[in-house]
Amino acid sequence: MRKKIIAGNWKMYNDVNGTVNLISEIKKVMSDKNLNAGLIVCPPFTNLETASELLKDTSIKLGAQNMYFEESGAFTGEISPLMLKSVGCEFVILGHSERRTIFGEGDQVINKKIKTAIKHALKPIFCIGETLDEREKGVTFKVIETQLKNGLEGLGEGELANLIVAYEPVWAIGTGKVATPEQAQEVHKFIRELIAKMYSQNFASQLIIQYGGSVKPENAKELLGQADIDGALVGGACLKAESFIKIAEVC
Ligand code: PGA
Repeated sequence: MRKKIIAGNWKMYNDVNGTVNLISEIKKVMSDKNLNAGLIVCPPFTNLETASELLKDTSIKLGAQNMYFEESGAFTGEISPLMLKSVGCEFVILGHSERRTIFGEGDQVINKKIKTAIKHALKPIFCIGETLDEREKGVTFKVIETQLKNGLEGLGEGELANLIVAYEPVWAIGTGKVATPEQAQEVHKFIRELIAKMYSQNFASQLIIQYGGSVKPENAKELLGQADIDGALVGGACLKAESFIKIAEVC
């Protein structure tokens, strides 16, 4: 039985004060609840240390939203896996569609990042997903297959024990347009079957595959009720403690 994991991708929201407030609120809201799901929060880089301190006495894990694939060097403006480890990060989101489309990250760069994250024992939340154009052209599965194979190239099953895959249809991110539970389940099933072919049935059956794209308390139950949906990567709705925890409560 796979444990459901709800991760909050804060994106470029909240300064240090906002981080203190939101984490305090999350702690308060969840204090009288017995959540079955695991929780991860991914604040901006500048707030990771503050968040880490605040999360010490909780079961909530800390993640970053990106990182560079080198350990150190002359890479102005970049953050290394060692730096993330040093502020208490356990997870790192890699290959988010905003990184792909706005910042031009391709599969090869994402593959290097996944490899470096694993080398430093950071657990990747590896995002994949098709654009609206790709869905309308009927190439969704092909896009997913390419992203998955390229992103994981050269990595063996043993190295991927802590991998989380997040299926995030680009057309559903921040748009309020959520994939129907059937649409999401269809792709999640495809991902799991493909992973079984690439690795093994056993590995595929244990892999956590999150759905992301306009997940809200109102649609979480149906989405998370699907056989192959093991959690959510939440953007907008994770910025309010109430809605973040409500999503976790349906698990
Ligand atoms: P959203 O973002 O929930 O605001 O659509 C999800 C994401 O980008 O991870």
